[in-house]
Amino acid sequence: MSSIYVTRRIPDIGITMLRDKGHTVYVSEKDGVLTRDELLEALRRVDPEGVLCLLADTIDAEVFDAAPRAKIFANYAVGFNNIDIAEAARRRVTITNTPGGALSNTVAEHTMALILALATRTVEGDRFVRRGEFTGWGPMMFLGVDLVGKTLGILGAGRIGSRLAHIAQKGFDMRIAYFDVKRNEAFETETQATYFPTVEEVLERADVVSIHVPLLDSTRHLINAERLRRMKQTAYLVNTSRGSVVDEAALVEALRSGVIAGAGLDVFENEPALTPGLIELPNVVLTPHIASATIKTRDEMARMAAENLIAFFEGKTPPNIVLPQ
Ligand code: GLV
Ligand code: GLV
Repeated sequence: MSSIYVTRRIPDIGITMLRDKGHTVYVSEKDGVLTRDELLEALRRVDPEGVLCLLADTIDAEVFDAAPRAKIFANYAVGFNNIDIAEAARRRVTITNTPGGALSNTVAEHTMALILALATRTVEGDRFVRRGEFTGWGPMMFLGVDLVGKTLGILGAGRIGSRLAHIAQKGFDMRIAYFDVKRNEAFETETQATYFPTVEEVLERADVVSIHVPLLDSTRHLINAERLRRMKQTAYLVNTSRGSVVDEAALVEALRSGVIAGAGLDVFENEPALTPGLIELPNVVLTPHIASATIKTRDEMARMAAENLIAFFEGKTPPNIVLPQ
């Protein structure tokens, strides 16, 4: 039986599963993300054989040094840009994540909520009512846009992008244009999506652009000032992937000067800090990195992270393996 350190409280089911298998589980008692020093101190103290970590924990050489016996880091997230994968590979540390149908659907639904909030001006309207400014119905008040027949541009047709395309096409009769590093013919058949080999071609056609790529060196600032100018002036940009995929300062400038019509963001470049000017803009809808936050999906993620650790300690290949590939 092994000792496992969990860097923050997650839904009980994951912890229970690990304890039921006889593992000794230490859960951080802090109600918040551990600071760098707190994380290093906890790992040195517990000296665990496995770690269950969060996307807010930076896992690098110094962390591996602080937990030399830990040969698995199970990330409680689908994205794993918080982990230095090259360093983990060098040390033969196993890395797992929590992808899957439940998470993909939850994130796609949240993305659709942001798109709908922009198109129907829900959040602006809510603020207006709360401010006490609603003095009566008006024919020209808060005119939004219809989604039916509009083009949704998807950057990254993986599990989440595909699910969003399905919802938008089946539910809202949107047309789908997509870019991916590789063409996905099953996806095209299912959603009647049109493939474009460059990001620019999607940006030029789309009325809504939604980003579903992982954060990699090649996707950092995938959306920059120049690409924002390729979008329609009436278009919305939605990001539920990772903040750094968008140059946030360039986005604020584009929103301020009318280069694009609006943005829906669940993730931020320097999370939780926001680029100055962002919150003053009326044409943005902001949520605090909660796109996967439903009770069901967070339980599912806890279960998956636990299953990955359990399989590893039984000498099996974890079901959601990132490394070794
Ligand atoms: C959330 O952002 C995740 O990667 O699961
Ligand atoms: C709007 O509320 C309408 O009834 O048209």
